[in-house]
Amino acid sequence: MLNKLMRKKNVATNKLLDEEVANVKSKKIPAHVAIIMDGNGRWAKKRNLPRVAGHHEGMKTVREIARIANRLGVKVLTLYAFSTENWKRPKLEVDFLMRLPGEFLSTYLTELIEENVRVEMIGDLSLLPNHTKKAIQKAIEATKENDGMVLNFAMNYGSRSEIVRCTQELVKKAAKGEIHWEDINEEVINTHLMTAHLPEPDLLIRTSGEVRLSNFMLWQLAYAEFSFTDVLWPDFDGHCLVKEIKEFQSRNRRFGSVEGEE
Ligand code: FPP
Repeated sequence: MLNKLMRKKNVATNKLLDEEVANVKSKKIPAHVAIIMDGNGRWAKKRNLPRVAGHHEGMKTVREIARIANRLGVKVLTLYAFSTENWKRPKLEVDFLMRLPGEFLSTYLTELIEENVRVEMIGDLSLLPNHTKKAIQKAIEATKENDGMVLNFAMNYGSRSEIVRCTQELVKKAAKGEIHWEDINEEVINTHLMTAHLPEPDLLIRTSGEVRLSNFMLWQLAYAEFSFTDVLWPDFDGHCLVKEIKEFQSRNRRFGSVEGEE
């Protein structure tokens, strides 16, 4: 009886989400959505669970949000999964976070391939444990021909170190005479960042009520619309994403001009 009721409720919820998705798709969808997934620890604490249980639940949210973003027609979904500062966390937690890409990909890679999703990564891969590197490289390789949504994980990513790396590359090129200092402009810098091949984020979402960027895509977010929601990442679902997109659609993006339209 209870099962039957639950099934009925699920069908109704799915139908509602289908309608919400169809509704929001009639207007402009942000091509690139970037998310700072925050609040896993607090989600777990509220339930008297260890912090890592929050990260594990957060991993399931990654799957759900990637699915809905893809259905909405988002072209790139960048998720801040591990920052260059996150190494400061207790070793047990870091080890757990390093195992999540492997678990996520072994559980969902087949589905992601079916959905034509291309897995990519930004960040310094070289410092990740071998098993994490292998899982990510396997997914990148297995999905490289897919031309649907890019699911871009920021792992061991830090915007300042990305900018330092870009500066070093440009100075090296200038020293070798491969580029003249006067030719260094915004476009050149764009092409030397880890996001060179991606459009700039249109929308940045941070969950859990924190209102800061935490060293995430500082250059790339120059003209993105920002949204900070109190919802904790493990509770962030398809309805929350649709709500964020609706809010984005109501914004007037001026890009520094006065007219209001792109
Ligand atoms: C911040 O929440 C969250 C992280 C540092 C990790 C985010 C990772 C995931 C959501 C899973 C990633 C999944 C894959 C597939 C890579 P917090 O722990 O700082 O939360 P708190 O502020 O409530 O303590």
